[in-house]
Amino acid sequence: MIDIAQIEPKLKEMLSENRYSHCLNTQKIASFLAQHYVVNPQKVRIAALLHDCAKDLSVELSENYIRKYAIILDEIEKNESRLWHGPVGSVLAKEKFGIADEEIGRAIRIHSTLDKNASTLEKIIYVADYMDYRESKEDEQSYERLKNIAITELDIVTFWIINFKMLDILKYHGVIHPRSIEARNELVHKLKDKMKYYDI
Ligand SMILES: [Fe+2]
Ligand SMILES: [Fe+2]
Repeated sequence: MIDIAQIEPKLKEMLSENRYSHCLNTQKIASFLAQHYVVNPQKVRIAALLHDCAKDLSVELSENYIRKYAIILDEIEKNESRLWHGPVGSVLAKEKFGIADEEIGRAIRIHSTLDKNASTLEKIIYVADYMDYRESKEDEQSYERLKNIAITELDIVTFWIINFKMLDILKYHGVIHPRSIEARNELVHKLKDKMKYYDI
């Protein structure tokens, strides 16, 4: 598999400074979480680093990629351009970085919404992405608590983050993707007895 050192300079050229530093931070958090789970650490690093590789593309360029690679978007994705960078990113990972690994591709593709039956790799990317965003907003104590729980209870933290993101979307009257609802429902069933021990 490709060396991380080869990815970074190319990625840096494709992204704004802030976005690139978000990708580096996501990688750092994801790698930290990966140490505590049975998951391929190299795949985690690559998926985390590349998860937003298509986020700074213009709508026009994204549309070109969608056409060129015949990316199939569902009805909600078609109307929500904020969700395009996942599927387009997984194609760019292959085209620009030679990452053809399917597990990495899917982790990039669904990183904004998650999905039911998500793998540990996919949950780690989903959690690390949000944790970096959250780090700047949380006080240090509650951020550390989130991080400490995430190393033993990835499902609990994944569930919380789905809720946080849904609440944000509700606030701006946005559309919630059904994949997120299905991922959340699955975790509600899976975690039902455990949840009471972990209040947000
Ligand atoms: Fe993203
Ligand atoms: Fe991100």
